[in-house]
Amino acid sequence: MLAFPRGSLYACPMRETRAIIERVRRVSADIQQLELSVDAALAQFQPGQSVFAWPVDNPGWHPYLREQWIPVAVRAGHMTVEFPPGLSYRPGQVLSLLSPVGRPIPLRANVRHMLLIAHTMPTTVILLARTLIAGGAAVTLVLHADAARYPLELLPPEVEILRGDTDWKWPDQVETLNWADQVIALAPPLAQEQVYGALYDQLYQLRHQLIPDGYVSGLFYQRLACGVGACTACQIPAPKGTILACTDGPAVDLKRLDFRR
Ligand code: FES
Repeated sequence: MLAFPRGSLYACPMRETRAIIERVRRVSADIQQLELSVDAALAQFQPGQSVFAWPVDNPGWHPYLREQWIPVAVRAGHMTVEFPPGLSYRPGQVLSLLSPVGRPIPLRANVRHMLLIAHTMPTTVILLARTLIAGGAAVTLVLHADAARYPLELLPPEVEILRGDTDWKWPDQVETLNWADQVIALAPPLAQEQVYGALYDQLYQLRHQLIPDGYVSGLFYQRLACGVGACTACQIPAPKGTILACTDGPAVDLKRLDFRR
């Protein structure tokens, strides 16, 4: 079960490994996928964790900051990552990977029904959906805004897909929220407070002000600089303590953010 004690310091050190790009695929107008040959140790990757990538053999061009890449599939010696088209990569290219970045997404005990709500491309929840389905859980994914452009054929076929409308409503909204053992939402950085605040408010009313710890989380994928908690560039505003997206996230219990203050 993917779970961490609340408030614990996640002290899994990052380690550098080499990877080779095996295949580059443009899967839609918004997304490219890279299939990588990676160190066997990366098979231990868990949903929520990501890699910091940097091209080793890119003559004349070396980005100052590493790119954060999100795995959508992991198996022994192989990893598939996806991100928007832009920087171009080629098969055979050697990469330096620093990993893992971030904590595994904490799951509540005995999750049988997971509700995922995406307000941007759902790349970051795909590995989680695969893992839950492999463990026998049911997964519903609500696609809002940009997320509606995501190619459905890239999602595990077992995932139930619901389409949200512009008011952030979706069919059978109350039923799906009541049915879920856990809810995880994904919003782009500029909309996090608005989206997560509205979701928390709705659940607060629906559940008669009783929201269990760990029941609803927001994913925080800010632009990372150091990735190890040293620069505070990824700080998430919270009433108590400091929350950093890179070392405390990407999943943060929305109860900790106190949207109803
Ligand atoms: S990216 Fe530096 S503290 Fe998070």
